[in-house]
Amino acid sequence: MITAAITGLSHYLPDYVLTNDEIATMVDTNDEWITTRTGIKSRRVLKDEHAGSSQLAIPAVRDVLEKTGTAPEKVECLICATSSPDYTWPSTACIIADALNIRNAMCYDILSACTGFLYCLQQAQAFIKSGIYKKIIICSAEKCTSFVNYKDRTTCALFGDGGAAALIEPNEEGYGVLVSKIHSDGAGNEHLIRLCGGSANIPSHEAVDAGMHFIHQDGKFVFKNAVTFMTSAVTEVMEEGNLTLDDIDWICTHQANKRIIDAVRQHCKAPEEKVICNIENVGNTSSASIPIALHEAALEGKLKKGDRLLLAAFGSGFTWGAMYVKWGDCKI
Ligand code: UT7
Repeated sequence: MITAAITGLSHYLPDYVLTNDEIATMVDTNDEWITTRTGIKSRRVLKDEHAGSSQLAIPAVRDVLEKTGTAPEKVECLICATSSPDYTWPSTACIIADALNIRNAMCYDILSACTGFLYCLQQAQAFIKSGIYKKIIICSAEKCTSFVNYKDRTTCALFGDGGAAALIEPNEEGYGVLVSKIHSDGAGNEHLIRLCGGSANIPSHEAVDAGMHFIHQDGKFVFKNAVTFMTSAVTEVMEEGNLTLDDIDWICTHQANKRIIDAVRQHCKAPEEKVICNIENVGNTSSASIPIALHEAALEGKLKKGDRLLLAAFGSGFTWGAMYVKWGDCKI
């Protein structure tokens, strides 16, 4: 059986560290509230106002190409997950490909918010299993701070900027994506939405004055749904794979809130040691959060060939899903 394996992985974070104490100078909050309610202490910010999300993914894609010895002309497909594209068009994928001299590949963006990396992996696995493509770059490019309102204390502490990339190739030894469950339900769309920037509310002075270009989130509602849907997807994957806790070495979920991560872990009855979590210093980087956390864990020597991972994500849409992945030979 052919599976889609992650054979290269990298991430990139911009230099500027935005601490909770600095956020407390902008809105009525404090380090203690943010730390206890979210688990976040600091996040990174791409300070250059004119640099788009692509600038966060380009270094990660470049690193993956170099580490795996992949020539740009060998890349057949590049899929970019982003909730903060450089422009409405062209796609951020095309901008990234151009910067790295990847020509003639099928390049496109996926907009499924914080579930974006799992959506990309699902698409890549379809191309790999069907034999359509054999070398696929999937990446996440997220300048989340571009849609954050630093006057809104209910959202401004949550998000950070970051990018990540992976090379996906066919494997015949049982490594890679083994079980996947990916879903969406648009009924939740108004609870996590950016109203202006697309075609429904054309950018205008009125729209910007009303803050419609910023993220709008019903935090409590999103929190509850994130827990409900991630745990249900995890259950589906465990059932389909006939898995128990003993079959799982690591759990890595979307990094939105430490309390959400804890809830999913408790649902799996897993000990804290099995959880990959970097939210403290990175915050919520939307679709980039899972690959950044995985790459950091790999660099720390945590991920070894043969390790079995449970991934889960939830985001605007609503979109959500879970995957069971066996870690193989991955250049980091
Ligand atoms: O990645 C996409 C998916 N997104 C998520 O998964 C995020 C899901 N939601 C959350 O993580 C949490 O709901 C938040 C972190 C956004 C909020 O935490 P919460 O425990 O749900 O707090 P809350 O919204 O119920 O607010 C509790 C209180 C409120 O005050 P009152 O009304 O009780 O007087 C808020 O005004 O905390 C207040 N509050 C704050 N206080 C200090 C809200 N934000 C802050 C803040 N500092 N930054």
